[in-house]
This record gives sequence, C-alpha cells and structure tokens, in this order.
Amino acid sequence: MGSVRLINIGRLYGLTGNNAVKVGNDLAEVATLDNAYLDFSDGRITGFGLMEAIPLDGKLMYDVEGGIVYPSYVDCHTHLVFAKNREDEFVDRINGLTYQEIANRGGGILNSVEKLRNMSEEELYADATARLHSLIRLGTGAIEIKSGYGLNKDAELKMLRVIKRLKENSPIPIKATFLGAHAFPKEYANDHEGYVQNLINEVLPTVVEEGLADYIDAFCEAGYFTVEQTRKVVEAGLKHGLKSRLHVNQFESFGAVQMAAEHQAISVEHLEVMTDADINTLAASNMFGVALPACSFFLKIPYTPSRKLIEAGVPLVLASDYNPGSSPTGNLNFVMSLACIYMQLLPTEALNALTINAANALEIAEDVGSIAIGKRGNVVVCKGIKSINSIPYQFGDNLIDDVFVNGELFTL
Ligand code: NIG
Ligand code: FE
Repeated sequence: MGSVRLINIGRLYGLTGNNAVKVGNDLAEVATLDNAYLDFSDGRITGFGLMEAIPLDGKLMYDVEGGIVYPSYVDCHTHLVFAKNREDEFVDRINGLTYQEIANRGGGILNSVEKLRNMSEEELYADATARLHSLIRLGTGAIEIKSGYGLNKDAELKMLRVIKRLKENSPIPIKATFLGAHAFPKEYANDHEGYVQNLINEVLPTVVEEGLADYIDAFCEAGYFTVEQTRKVVEAGLKHGLKSRLHVNQFESFGAVQMAAEHQAISVEHLEVMTDADINTLAASNMFGVALPACSFFLKIPYTPSRKLIEAGVPLVLASDYNPGSSPTGNLNFVMSLACIYMQLLPTEALNALTINAANALEIAEDVGSIAIGKRGNVVVCKGIKSINSIPYQFGDNLIDDVFVNGELFTL
C-alpha cells in the first residue's frame, strides 16, 4: 500500500482528539479544518494540516478542488445478507395492508426465510458483495450485518458463513450479529418455547464454536419475541461471551428497554415507540439508542423521538436497518436527510451519530469514525459542495465524488 495526499480540501470534518461518545449539546460539535490536506500511508491516516503548511515530500496527490472530506459512515444495524427483494409486499402495502398484516399471513420475515433457505451460500455471497460495494460507494466505511433469515441451524449458519466471508474479503471492518431470534419459523409456529430452546441449546453453541458472531440480537416485539424469551436469548449470549444489541420498541413499549438495561446490552435499536419511563431508563443506562429513520419512512410508522433522547443525554446513533422488508436501502446520505427533516437533527448531529457514535456502538472507534492519526483512511470526498449541510439538504442526489478505503481510492 502506498501513500496518498488529499489536497485543497475546502473543509475537513470530523477531527477528534479522542474517541469519546458525543451526547447532549456536544452532539452538534464537529471539529473542522478549512483549506486543509490529509495524508494516508499504508492504509492509515498519517497526517493533516493547513495547505499553507503542506510538507514537501512528493506524495501522490489527489485534488479535492475546494470540496469537503469527512469520515466514512459507520452503519451499526443492517440485514445486508438477504435473498431477494420483497417488491410484491410493497405493492400489497400500497393496496392497504400493514407490515404486521403481511407478516401474519406468512409474508414478511418468513417470506425472506423461505427464499434464503433455497439459495446457495455462493449466490448469497455474490449478492451481498455487490450490495456492500454499492454501500461503500455511498460512503459506508464500516458495517454490522445480522443473520436472522435462516431460522434453522443450517440456514442461520449459512448466513453467518456468508458474513464471515464478507469479513475476510471486504476492505472495510464488519461485525457479525446472530439474530436467530428474528421470528418464529413455521416449523415452530405452535411451539415458541421450543424454538427458543433450540436456538439456545442447538444453534448458539455452534455459532460460538465456529467464531461466527460478535454479538447477539433478538426482535423483542408483540407477535415476535416476548421480553421473557428475549431475556433467555440475551442471557444465553452472555454465557457464551456475546453482548447484545436488540430490536426493541418498534411497535410497542412493554418493558424491553428495562430488560436490556438490566443485562447491559450495548444498544437498543428502533425505539419508534418510547414512553418517558423508557427514555429515562435508557438515559440512566450505558446503552446506545439507535434510531432507524429509513424504516420509519418506508413503513410510515413514527420516528424515534431523537430530540428527547438527546435532551435526556442518551448517546444517539443512526443506522440504515438495510433489509428487504422495512428499509430497502442502505444509503446513509438519505438516512441523514430523514434524521434532519423528520427528527429535527442538525446536520452535524446526524454526522456524529453516523460516525464517531456509531463507531463506539460497534466498539471500533479506535479504528474508524473520525479523522485522527492512526485510524483507517476511510473518508468521503464531495468536490462540489462546501458544507456537510448539503448532504441532508440535497436529498435524493448523490453528492459523493469518491471514497477512500484504507487510504486508497475505492474503484470497485
Ligand atoms: O429491523 N424489525 C425486525 N426486523 C427488520 C425487518 C425485517 C424484515 O421485514 O425482513 C427490521 O425492521
Ligand atoms: Fe433491523
């Protein structure tokens, strides 16, 4: 790997002296440097400064032409490995059915499960790789990916092996989450407890033995996993050394945030329906609150009350929730727009929520999430704009000219 110098950066965003999580008023603070250069060597950030103080050491130059550079996004919640799209259900929803009604008649997650069980590991890997590359081009520089469309041992392991291959072959950091508790497969439609036991006793030990997961997750929701069932999954994960990041409060509030706090989950995610008690519990815990505004947009459900979370001091994170049912996009530029427009975040708050806070939520803040010496050279270049405000403002446009990954221009 060689050395590259980005020159004529009109504004360089996301310089942090430390990797601290941003909360409260600090969430809006993004340190910048105008008229700057940025150096990469051997995949890492090795220097930056004012153009007028540029060292004369003959590096390969890349001209940003007065535009902006910021740290690549970190997407801490995706279902990137999936079988096929679910456009038919999209049309069903336009015709008046709800997400839950579609799920109740065997569609939804179970529709994706049937399709995934019939696909080869090879085909899943090829499709997921293509998706991942398009996300990298859209500015994603680190990502979390869940299982959860297999829902039996073979198919969950198949998904997790695909994620493992992505980890091995992709240029960006990837974290894997075991989401066997995503829904009840039809074989266990009348034996939910049996499914939870199977998951904990038969599937989880192999997942752990093969080193296929970094975290464990469950969809704790009415019609899916109860708080008690989720607790069992979380406790089993902890026994095997896996911390949890949990889908909670998407449609109903029934004690999931409290249970997650008691078990020191890393994060609670979705949070569209939050009581004051839920917010207080979350604020008093060490958990991250992860909002998924593209899911709210696509399903036309409430947005996470993010301003209230920020005021309460919760470390807020934004993610895409990329999946075929509730958020068929992983475009975090659009997520930033939604956060600003529908949740009233400032663009700088959204940027922090998508970079340094998200990196902390994935426990990779020493590696990505800001511009700092020693971190990966994963940055976004937008030559045609002067401020990060343009990203959420000009929604629907792709303003990114280039991305650098590990200090190199990404060309795939
Ligand atoms: O995070 N809420 C549960 N799981 C996904 C949706 C999965 C699907 O519909 O395929 C989500 O929104
Ligand atoms: Fe999700």
